[in-house]
Amino acid sequence: MSNSTGLAGKTAIVTGASSGIGRAIAAQLGAAGAHVFLSGRTAEAMQDCAAQIVDQGGQASVVVGDVTQLGVLQTLVDQAVAETGHLHIMVNNAGLSYSGSILEGDPEHWRTMFDTNVLALLVGCQAAVRAMRACNAEGQIVNISSVVAQRPNGGVYAATKHAVNVISASLRDELEQDSIRITNVMPGAIATNFARNFDVEFSATMLKMAGIDADPAPGGHLAPETLEALANNMQNLLGNPQDVANAVMYAVTQPIHVNIADIVVRPPKSFDVAH
Ligand SMILES: NC(=O)c1ccc[n+]([C@@H]2O[C@H](COP(=O)([O-])OP(=O)(O)OC[C@H]3O[C@@H](n4cnc5c(N)ncnc54)[C@H](OP(=O)(O)O)[C@@H]3O)[C@@H](O)[C@H]2O)c1
Repeated sequence: MSNSTGLAGKTAIVTGASSGIGRAIAAQLGAAGAHVFLSGRTAEAMQDCAAQIVDQGGQASVVVGDVTQLGVLQTLVDQAVAETGHLHIMVNNAGLSYSGSILEGDPEHWRTMFDTNVLALLVGCQAAVRAMRACNAEGQIVNISSVVAQRPNGGVYAATKHAVNVISASLRDELEQDSIRITNVMPGAIATNFARNFDVEFSATMLKMAGIDADPAPGGHLAPETLEALANNMQNLLGNPQDVANAVMYAVTQPIHVNIADIVVRPPKSFDVAH
């Protein structure tokens, strides 16, 4: 097992670890020696990732749950602490987007985005800080925001990510006297299942442009191999989830007196769909 970044003996939680960016972060944390708790709604995808971590000599646990049921996050943190005795790294990554204008949008979609991207992240931060303090951990909390939070527009999804930036900065202020650091990561367009709630034509067009023969289903996951091919074939326009995971690994392996506050990680070309 590669353990060059020295996370052996550390406990990490990643929400939204069944796909895309969260899955890549979980895999890298596991490969670096952390005991990773993978949380998400799709058990099989997380079990595959956990099996890979264990095959490489690491430790991983899968906890299935919907983060919009807020008690799920406290249970998740409690389980990680009960099984390992502590919590060092919390990655609040679970998130989603529904496209659409404010004038035409569906308020139920707005509620889902705010519940998942904002409220669940807040509860995840609070539960993690309490657990880290209780076990005197040197803690790292990573919140996954988006480059859309750097723009004044971008619709309701962008509004949720502006909220994430404010939450990360506020929490950093609240924790100045603690041994807990907050990193806010803003990815650009990354090849993941993020477009699953967009019009299916969007994914079909991207796959066609990349020369990939695959049929996206509305709301469905694309196979990891398809996403890998998409990232490889569209390198200028779409980042690879590994790029974001590399940035997270950099942040969480700094000594505790260093706070990597904000990271933007994006492909060379900017992409004009809210992401
Ligand atoms: N891809 C991009 O271009 C991009 C750019 C900037 C920011 N981001 C952010 O990156 C984060 C990860 O997204 P991604 O691109 O990796 O998309 P993804 O492949 O669709 O992954 C999203 C993850 O979040 C989980 N999730 C969503 N709702 C959930 C819920 N209610 N309870 C538990 N888990 C839930 C999903 O679980 P299931 O699959 O099991 O449903 C999945 O594991 C999100 O916060 C997103 O806003 C993405």
